[in-house]
Formats: sequence, structure tokens, C-alpha cells
Amino acid sequence: MNPASLIPLAEPIPIHWAWFDLLLVTTFTAHILFMNALVGSAAIGLVHAMRGDSGLAREVGKKAPPLLALTINLGVAPLLFLQVNYGQFDYVSSVLMGGWWLAVIAALMLAYYGFYAYKFGHDALSPGRRTALLAVSLVGTLYVALMLTTNMTLMLRPEFWPQYFEKTGAAVLNFGDPTLYPRFLHFMVGAAAVGGLFVALLGRWGKNDAFVEVGMRWLNRATLVNLGIGLWFLVSLPPDILLAFLGGSLPATLTLVAGLGCAGMLLAAGFRKQPIQATVWAVLTVFFMSLTRHWLRTLFLAPWFNIKDTPVTGQYSPVLLFAVFLVAGVAAMAYMLKLYFKSREGRA
Ligand code: HEM
Repeated sequence: MNPASLIPLAEPIPIHWAWFDLLLVTTFTAHILFMNALVGSAAIGLVHAMRGDSGLAREVGKKAPPLLALTINLGVAPLLFLQVNYGQFDYVSSVLMGGWWLAVIAALMLAYYGFYAYKFGHDALSPGRRTALLAVSLVGTLYVALMLTTNMTLMLRPEFWPQYFEKTGAAVLNFGDPTLYPRFLHFMVGAAAVGGLFVALLGRWGKNDAFVEVGMRWLNRATLVNLGIGLWFLVSLPPDILLAFLGGSLPATLTLVAGLGCAGMLLAAGFRKQPIQATVWAVLTVFFMSLTRHWLRTLFLAPWFNIKDTPVTGQYSPVLLFAVFLVAGVAAMAYMLKLYFKSREGRA
């Protein structure tokens, strides 16, 4: 079977595709930063709780429900932009994953309830039970992350799709893809690093030097480990794509080099134990790595699809409406935050 016959036709888009790509990469950066703070800090809290120190787990547990809410909300935006520009690939891979993909919703709900129960039941539960609760919630988020990596790699490989017709189980998970393992680990070890940074920031705001110490240690060690995993990810890529990142494609090479440069600056700030400077470099590193991941998608899809061929209808009115609502929404949120901080001053 020719896999190309399984790719639906690209739907026309209202404005130039570059706008959607830009929005996709920027909102994805925000999604990953919040996901990292959640998954990483919960994992660090769990390690500490298992060693009998529940203080750190309790503090990060308080932040887990709002961090999960922000991760989900900031996941919806890239999902929409992804569907606009690459829907003909992403819809197919989601359908092929079947029940595994749908189970993401159940795993998210389990994690959400678990984190809430941990936060509000911390003092009432025994140490063993609350540690188990934190572990189950964390496993829920890891399942979601694994399914997202599976989907994001399956959408890039139409040549794997015909497997669906060879299997009786009616669901395809591309665990045979050698890029899947380093890619998933790269995200998860990155989460441990940024989670460490989040713990350090909590320490800085709460004047808790021990948290700053622990957090910066996680940031530095996980970032060093991730340099090795990143290299593994790079060499697991098909040779033509690897060569594109080694100078064959200027934008792909430049964004990778920029990401590595920012990671170097992040490490420098990490070793100097400067959480604020490290935060600036962490945001830039995640942004450039997200751009690198964007070129990776373009290179993988090149044999099947060129975004420049997508028909553009030139309907600007929906975009203008979107811009108006975006500005109004941001203004409303700024006002809400202003009221919140004012009321906090009053309560203090
Ligand atoms: C615990 C919750 C979540 C975790 C841990 C998580 C983790 C991840 C990870 C690791 C990736 C990168 C996968 C890869 O490229 O290999 C990713 C991508 C993505 N996530 Fe999430 N995610 C979560 C929730 C959500 C939710 C609820 C949505 C949507 C409503 C969402 C939307 C997306 C989208 C659209 C992408 C890909 C964007 C792109 O291709 O540019 N995520 N997520």
C-alpha cells in the first residue's frame, strides 16, 4: 500500500501559514514550560518524600493543581494551531492510536484528582498513603507525556501507518521508532531540570535556602544528563535529517546551535546558583529547542508534504476577531491578577 494514499488533502487556511507556525511554536513553549514545572517538581517531591522528607513534597504538592490546569490550558492552544497546519497528519496518527490516545483524558483526570487529594489531604493521610497518591498522580502525567510523544512521532511517519491494516488489535503505537525513546527521555529529563529550577524559585520567594540549594542541584545535574540524551536523540535520526542539523539546513542548524548556546548559559547561571538568570536562559533554551523540534517536523514531513502548497484563502476577518479577543482576554486577565494581588495585600 502506498502510505501517501492515507494522507487526507490539506484543508485551505485563512491566512499565511507562517502565522500559525509562529503561534504553534510560541504557545508550545509555554505549554512545555508549565508541564516541566509540574512533572519535574512533582518527581523531585516524590524522591524527597520517599526518603522521608515530606517538607518539599508538601510545598510542590500545593502548586501541582494550578500547574496542571495551566499545562492543560496552554496545551489547547498548540493543539488548535497544530490542527490548522498539520491536521492531515495529526488526526490520522490520533485515530491510529485509538483507545491509547483516548485514555489520555482518563489519565489526566486521575492525575488531577490525585494532585488535589494530595494537596488538601496532606496532613490527614499517612506518609505511606500520601506518597503513593503523589506517585499515582505523577504516573498519570507520565502516561499523557508518553502518548503525546507517540502521537507526535507517529504523525511524522506515514510509512508506518499501513501497519494498522496488518494488525488485528486495531491500534498502532510506533514503539519500533528508534527516535521515540531518546525524544521522550529528553522531554522528561528536561522536566526534572526545569522542575528543579521551579523548586529553587519557590525557595527564593519563600526565603528557604535549602530549596534553592536542592532545586539548583537538580537543574544542573539533569541539564548535564540531558546534553547526553540530546546527542542520543540526534544520532537516532535518519541520516539525511541528522546531516540537515549538522549544517545541511541553515535554519535547522542555527536554531539547534542557539538552543545549545542558551543551555550553556543556563548551566553557567545554574552553577552560580542564580535562579532568576537561570529562568531567563531556561525560557530561551526551551524556545529554541521548540523551534529545533519544528524544523525536525518539517524535515520528517518533507517527502510527503510542503506547507507552502497549502491553499490560503486570504480571509483576514476571523484573524482580526481573534486578535481583538486576545488583547481583550489578556487585559481582563491582567485586571484579574491586579485585583488578586491587591486582595492578598489586604489579607496579609
Ligand atoms: C499532564 C499533562 C501533559 C503533559 C505531561 C504533556 C506533555 C507533553 C509533551 C512531553 C509533549 C511533547 C511530545 C513530543 O513532541 O514528543 C507535548 C506536546 C503537546 N501537547 Fe502536551 N502534555 C500534557 C497535556 C496536554 C493537553 C491537555 C493538551 C491539549 C489539550 C496538550 C497538547 C499538546 C500538543 C498539541 C503538543 C504538540 C504541539 C506541537 O506539536 O507543536 N498537552 N505535551
